[in-house]
Amino acid sequence: MKTIIEPFKIKSVEPIRFTTPAERERILRRAWYNPFLIKADDVLIDLLTDSGTSAMSARQWAGVMDGDESYAGSRSFFRFERTIRELTGFRHVIPTHQGRAAEKILFSVVGGPGKHIPNNTHFDTTRANVEFTGAEAHDFPTSEGKQPALIADFKGNMDLVALESFIKKMGPSSIPLCMLTVTNNSGGGQPVSMENIRKTSRLLRKYRIPLFLDACRFAENAFFIKKREKGYAHKSVRQIAREMFSYADGCTMSAKKDALVNMGGFLAMNDASLAEKARNILIVTEGFPTYGGLAGRDLEAIAQGLEEILDEHYLTYRIRSVEYLGEKLVERGVPIVQPPGGHAVYLDARRFTPQIPPEQYPGQAIVCELFRRGGIRSVEIGSVMFGKTDPRTGRFQPPPMELVRLAIPRRVYTQSHVDYVIEVIQEVYRDRKKLRGMQIIEEPPVLRHFTAKFRPLK
Ligand code: F0G
Repeated sequence: MKTIIEPFKIKSVEPIRFTTPAERERILRRAWYNPFLIKADDVLIDLLTDSGTSAMSARQWAGVMDGDESYAGSRSFFRFERTIRELTGFRHVIPTHQGRAAEKILFSVVGGPGKHIPNNTHFDTTRANVEFTGAEAHDFPTSEGKQPALIADFKGNMDLVALESFIKKMGPSSIPLCMLTVTNNSGGGQPVSMENIRKTSRLLRKYRIPLFLDACRFAENAFFIKKREKGYAHKSVRQIAREMFSYADGCTMSAKKDALVNMGGFLAMNDASLAEKARNILIVTEGFPTYGGLAGRDLEAIAQGLEEILDEHYLTYRIRSVEYLGEKLVERGVPIVQPPGGHAVYLDARRFTPQIPPEQYPGQAIVCELFRRGGIRSVEIGSVMFGKTDPRTGRFQPPPMELVRLAIPRRVYTQSHVDYVIEVIQEVYRDRKKLRGMQIIEEPPVLRHFTAKFRPLK
């Protein structure tokens, strides 16, 4: 059969609330035109994030009931640890309450002033955790990865030439580890090839720099390798994932993505002394090493989710349903980052609204219009999230791309929801010339996109 279907049936449903255009205008105004400040009950289709928004399976819920809540030595921890060891091959598994807690612990140990952390592209919390320690975060995407319209298989790859010259310039001793984000979220949800992972690893070994994967979406990345990279079509996704991890010395993971849970994460590694230092911080900030920041039931749900995510029927449906959204938008002439990513479709705001300059936040204008028209919540990944003002010149420095992310929660929306989203975007695109920029009227010192307040420009 050609038709790819959801490989599950639905046992429990949640209503969603319909609002009128006038209500949505009021909601937007009250939320200061920031989607993070909109109440979820006021949203019809929520594409803000794929993080922590998955629908859990009946087996995961059964695991929740079965969770062992012992403070120390919980049975659920040992299942969690065994599952992650088998999947990643890493010896030390440290549970945390979410991905950024793993990052915080890792960079508290290895970061600090004078240190540099390279990555294909840091996610915003990863960058913030690196910088919080006084270290510097550096991105090395390939030139392919910076061209939204270009169609290529592995636009998430690391630029190895740039990475090596950076290592030579800074000196390996100032680089305690290098990260590789799979898939590359901030770069459009694009995958990293096995060849690139292998070569990154080989290059880093030459300089004795450990490689850590930011593994949030490892299964989606592994599936792209299976579909697109020579020599992997006949391997199972599990084998491919194992090979990916085999080139690394450790990983951080937000289980809120490819472990199909609503909360959770972990840090894993081979180095025993690094693990000991990490556990010492864990006890202070998260909890005892056999639960970290999690309840026993969460550990069960994560272990089960990590099994389910490798189901190739699931991954076929998952990747195809995101691709479907991208394909239909392209057919309607809407500019997106090509090809569609694993967990999201990214609108290319530079081409969508060329009349709005970066310092007037074109992506934010589109985000607001999608809500106004159709109650769809999305998020800007561009000058709001990453734009900076040079303290010396006072000049605005935009990031390489202005994007709007439509992240698809796992196992939550059906094809008719997606068809509705396509219709709304098509209308917004038709009327794009009427869109105007935005101005920030209040912002916090870090991660401003979460709480900044905006005003539409006339
Ligand atoms: N790394 C990547 C690549 C991520 O996408 C995220 C979270 C994190 C780390 C941090 O994990 O949220 O569990 O602390 N990304 C979410 C998103 C928030 O919407 O893309 P966390």
